[in-house]
Amino acid sequence: MKTAIRYYSKFGHTAKMVEAVKDIVGAEPQTVAIPLGEPVDVLFLGAGVFMGKVNSQVNDFIKTLTPDMVKCVVCFGSCAIIKSPVPQMRKALELRGVKVSDMEFTCPGSMGLVKSGHPNADDITAFKDFVEDVLQQIK
Ligand SMILES: Cc1cc2nc3c(=O)[nH]c(=O)nc-3n(C[C@H](O)[C@H](O)[C@H](O)COP(=O)(O)O)c2cc1C
Repeated sequence: MKTAIRYYSKFGHTAKMVEAVKDIVGAEPQTVAIPLGEPVDVLFLGAGVFMGKVNSQVNDFIKTLTPDMVKCVVCFGSCAIIKSPVPQMRKALELRGVKVSDMEFTCPGSMGLVKSGHPNADDITAFKDFVEDVLQQIK
């Protein structure tokens, strides 16, 4: 199974998450500045939220995707106030006709004192468990 990881990380939270799962996924994490070079079965796509929005680079990356290039996207992310950045990514992906897994992951991501210290070790462990579950189910 061909996998890929793309992410946007302003303060290193999503970067910390992808670093923790790269060996499980079997793909080197790359930022959303790097388009997919070849078709993949599963793409893990992650980001945080700023002023209520996912960064425009994430949306620009999503615009490079087609159903031919990616069979299924698994969205994840972190945030301090809203429930999750995932619905924004899901909506943009589905508008392009790209299949998005029902499985998704969100953990707290600090904004100053709000959710301070997150994503922490427990968040990272939960994310690793999530990725293992996803790959087990998709296999
Ligand atoms: C300037 C700034 C603005 C933010 N705005 C929001 C927001 O509107 N809603 C929210 O839930 N989290 C917000 N956050 C929290 C980030 O989404 C959170 O820190 C996330 O983990 C960042 O991930 P990253 O470092 O991988 O980009 C904000 C954080 C900062 C520093």
